[in-house]
Amino acid sequence: MSYSYQIKTQEAYELAYRESVQYPEVFWERIASTFTWQKKWDKVLDWNFDQPSVKWFEGGKLNITENCLDRHLQKYGNIPAIIWEPNHPSESHRVLTYNELHVKVTQFANVLKNNGVQKGDRVCIYMGMIPELTIAMLACARIGAIHSIIFGGFSAQAIADRLEDAKAEFIITCDGAYRGAKEVPLKAVVDEALVGNTIIKRVIVYNRLNMPVSMVADRDVYWEEEVRKVEMQGNPDCPAEVMDAEDMLFVLYTSGSTGKPKGVVHTIGGYMVWANYTFVNVFQYQPGQIHFCTADIGWITGHSYIVYGPLSAGATTLMFEGIPTWPDAGRFWDIVDKFKVDILYTAPTAIRSLMGFGLEYVKDKDLSSLKVLGSVGEPINEEAWHWFYNNIGKEKCPVVDTWWQTETGGVLISNLAGVTPGKPSFATLPLPGVQPCLVDEHGKEILDNHVSGNLCIRFPWPGMIRTTYNNHERCRQAYFSTYENLYFTGDGCVRDEYGNYRITGRVDDVLNVSGHRIGTAEVENAINSHTGVIESAVVGYPHEIKGQGIYAYVIYNGTPEDIELSKQAIHQTVSRMIGPIAKPDKIQFVPGLPKTRSGKIMRRILRKIAEGETSNFGDTSTLLDPTLVDSIRAGKI
Ligand code: WT7
Repeated sequence: MSYSYQIKTQEAYELAYRESVQYPEVFWERIASTFTWQKKWDKVLDWNFDQPSVKWFEGGKLNITENCLDRHLQKYGNIPAIIWEPNHPSESHRVLTYNELHVKVTQFANVLKNNGVQKGDRVCIYMGMIPELTIAMLACARIGAIHSIIFGGFSAQAIADRLEDAKAEFIITCDGAYRGAKEVPLKAVVDEALVGNTIIKRVIVYNRLNMPVSMVADRDVYWEEEVRKVEMQGNPDCPAEVMDAEDMLFVLYTSGSTGKPKGVVHTIGGYMVWANYTFVNVFQYQPGQIHFCTADIGWITGHSYIVYGPLSAGATTLMFEGIPTWPDAGRFWDIVDKFKVDILYTAPTAIRSLMGFGLEYVKDKDLSSLKVLGSVGEPINEEAWHWFYNNIGKEKCPVVDTWWQTETGGVLISNLAGVTPGKPSFATLPLPGVQPCLVDEHGKEILDNHVSGNLCIRFPWPGMIRTTYNNHERCRQAYFSTYENLYFTGDGCVRDEYGNYRITGRVDDVLNVSGHRIGTAEVENAINSHTGVIESAVVGYPHEIKGQGIYAYVIYNGTPEDIELSKQAIHQTVSRMIGPIAKPDKIQFVPGLPKTRSGKIMRRILRKIAEGETSNFGDTSTLLDPTLVDSIRAGKI
């Protein structure tokens, strides 16, 4: 592969940026033309932000798997598409070439067809980080089914909620998953999610652990047996379904400020172009390099930078099943050393956690293959940035701080590795096609530099969210109604005099815990469902490793008899309702919550207390009971 649209100099960036703003259609048409289309589009872009309605490459016909697989086969069929490193270092790694991946994807696409999956059906995928997860995604895309991946850390209840919202009829899962020293029984969680569910027609189970699992007759089948059936049919080909550019590729649930996660929808053409363009430019990928993104495919980072970005670029993507700290905190560095990784893309929370183990685990590892380091998921603090740059990149690898969201499909603001300069704690400059602006709370644009504002985007880019599944109004409300004619990101931001953007964090009721997005309302709902809890309020507070921790103020009916036991019980309820990732780090039982006369909780005060502030609570005169503030502060954990 060669990438005609790879930006190689600062001047070329500036030129591309200017052109993308002045002539967006010409710009994107040229890039989209380098992909494989079954029919060219009629119109490059059609949009308005009031409905909202955003259509890229309308009338174009394609299949993303032809772009991720078929088009590479002739020249690059024998190069590795996926290198897979298992959880346990003593188990052998696997390599799947593009040829092999193509065979497996078409084979499994036929399995899906044999099991009744049709174009447009929603297929929920709840698996560990094994190549079969990628195969399952691409097989869905091959036949035009819409995948909805649920991160393996979510609970049965969370799965049930998502299945219902997506009206999914099919599930692909594993018996279990390895996660460090743990074995997680995924199929058992799915079984629990399916109690009472009459909509699911088929559950396909891949055997990873050889765990005994319950298999419901006429509903549950084994992956391997179904593949064998396809082999017995003589392994028929599975031609790529002809899809519209604006057909849905996937739904991915993410948290917002309401209690219910929403299904972010991405469509095929625009998402493909965006994932590919950003991958090639941000990381400056060169053919033959090995790209290691440490995210889980259950999150958007994995979708875009383990699967669709790299594979559409004919790259070699490294998938890791395990966790950074097991068997020891040198796991990432061992992998870099073992496979001579070129690009390492990870999260600040992982860097901070590994930093805490000291250089002991880094010192004997050969990291000289590394060329580019990347960070994503939350603002990276300067200390972590420098540690990463100095000790992992040995001061010779650019660090790209990539700002984006599930809704944006791919990176929007980042330096381009080695091409545009990085600046610690700044995501820096917008990618071509991205037109950021900062507004104050009234929606007035902030033109001055060094002033905090709310980050918005004023023009569509190919990878942007199209709708929220089954509820378009919700999409409008959440992203397009706060400020007229702007997409609102929910992030606070400042810009320096060079036009570099520094993201300061969420300005809504969304927490970012270890790079995972969690809505405070979701956690509150879970806590409130616990017996004896009358009301709760959840806020974030600075946490050394996780970035943000979860602080819950809970009003309990009476005083809990055993405080510790009650806290553990609440943890269990939250784990059951959402998943262990949403467990509060701190729970404080309080006599009441600081509310205004109209009944609104003043979270600002609760946030300040959680942050350790002892005075300066601002104006508390509108509070129904101002004395509460002192008593809550006195009980701070
Ligand atoms: C939120 C999106 C993007 C994939 C992973 C998270 C925060 C993300 C950065 C960054 C500062 C960042 C924002 C954003 N965020 N990247 N480089 N610097 N903040 O995706 O779960 O959709 O969360 O993560 O607050 O809104 P997500």
